[in-house]
Amino acid sequence: MAQEDVFKKLVAHCKEYGFVFQSSEIYDGLSAVYDYAQLGVELKNNIKKYWWDSMVKLHENVVGIDSAIFMHPTIWKASGHVDAFNDPLIDNKDSKKRYRADVLIEDLMAKYEAKMDKEVAKAKKKFGESFDEEQFRATNPRVKANKEKMDAVHKRFVDALDKNDLDELKQIIIDNEIACPISGTKNWTDVRQFNLMFSTEMGSTADGSSKIFLRPETAQGIFVNYLNVQKTGRMKIPFGIAQIGKAFRNEIVARQFIFRMREFEQMELQFFVRPGEEMKWFDKWKETRMSWHKALGFDDDKYRFHDHDKLAHYANAATDVEFKFPFGFKEVEGIHSRTDFDLSQHQEFSGKKIQYFDPELNKSYVPYVVETSIGVDRMFLQIMSEAYAEEKIEKEDGKTDERVVLRLPAALAPIKLAVMPLTKKDGLPEKAREIINDLKFDFNCQYDEKDSIGKRYRRQDAIGTPFCVTVDHQSLEDNTVTIRHRDTMEQERIEISKLAEILDSHVSMKSLFKKLK
Ligand code: GAP
Repeated sequence: MAQEDVFKKLVAHCKEYGFVFQSSEIYDGLSAVYDYAQLGVELKNNIKKYWWDSMVKLHENVVGIDSAIFMHPTIWKASGHVDAFNDPLIDNKDSKKRYRADVLIEDLMAKYEAKMDKEVAKAKKKFGESFDEEQFRATNPRVKANKEKMDAVHKRFVDALDKNDLDELKQIIIDNEIACPISGTKNWTDVRQFNLMFSTEMGSTADGSSKIFLRPETAQGIFVNYLNVQKTGRMKIPFGIAQIGKAFRNEIVARQFIFRMREFEQMELQFFVRPGEEMKWFDKWKETRMSWHKALGFDDDKYRFHDHDKLAHYANAATDVEFKFPFGFKEVEGIHSRTDFDLSQHQEFSGKKIQYFDPELNKSYVPYVVETSIGVDRMFLQIMSEAYAEEKIEKEDGKTDERVVLRLPAALAPIKLAVMPLTKKDGLPEKAREIINDLKFDFNCQYDEKDSIGKRYRRQDAIGTPFCVTVDHQSLEDNTVTIRHRDTMEQERIEISKLAEILDSHVSMKSLFKKLK
């Protein structure tokens, strides 16, 4: 099945099974804003817990905060967001559709890359074991031609971004004959900058209201609390402050479902270090964060680092953790060395001294910062798109059947165990409820008595429940049940008293934490 079709099915699946709904759907929706439904919120909370505990619980020198969304407007002047948090926009005059110029160019480069990958995949299939990919890429004329074209666009693109040259961005679009996907024409306006922050008014007009911004990142809430946390927590450098919270950006190109939203959630860590030691910590956090991703058990070749072509105004090094979504490799997390930019700016704009006295060096300095910043919603989409599978299964009578299964990492699954009485009578429902009442304090369980057992299994597969147990008449006699494993569909008879132990070893977060470096 084409990857685009897989993605469409995934979006439909998210709605059908209660993971994600369009916001304000009964009013025809609000573009690029989504609501998490009854199962989605459980998965989302589990992702947040996995991140929070891995940062705050497992690092002695990291503490967490929860700062307000509304902040003093000068913060955004100091951080540079008022002047420089812009996207370069271009309109197609025929379709009247608006695009990000940088995204149009990146999409073009991705097309060249896809063409090269297709050639490689074809050759791999043809030559089998003996295939030498490196040599093929270096010598195949079609791959080489596409690589040259891609590199040429890339060089112009990076130069234009470096010089903030909007005319050149437009020229790249014209020279490469990039057409509007809607109208198919190349009738473009000039490229203009557009600020992404939402603003609102605080206070009534009579009292003299002031314009404030909805935060476009949670990071600034950490920087402005640096002094308070360092002092009250008696924190010694190096140390980190973690935060999970909503952020808002008036994204112009809002597409790909929850990949790019106008209201989203970030999980950010600002790690404060000695000036001059930031590169060591930058490398350390790259390794730590990649290990966090890979502990989820998806294939290693789904991940890569992508160093930034253009550094943000605050950074001296930056890389993205990219994941191979059904629509290609895309950023999930940013890791940035932010220097002392933010704290210095807040020192200057607030007039308060923001420094750390380092007893070992016997001097004061403005700490440097290494940041890790990941979107909860992108992580959600990544996990769902990797977990979604359509499978053909052999039945006992020799016929085949199909199932949709969400192969979610068990520790993140919304429901850990479904308990199913074989029939609705003879005391089986009561026995099933007894099992749930025993386990529900530690594990999210679901009771299901409707339809045939086969149909109930399919329903649980489709929402990613790692285990189902069936309570039958034998259960009343010997306190055993049949447990069924989601991924292998294997079934075994076990004692009810063993259930807690089995669940604990397979579905608890501990199993993920133990894999972390
Ligand atoms: N404090 C640094 C910062 O905000 P960023 O690269 O702009 O850096 C970090 O954002 C992460 O936040 C991204 O890697 C992505 O996962 C998530 N993110 C950013 N914009 C988003 C959007 N419009 N919708 C969903 N997630 C977004």
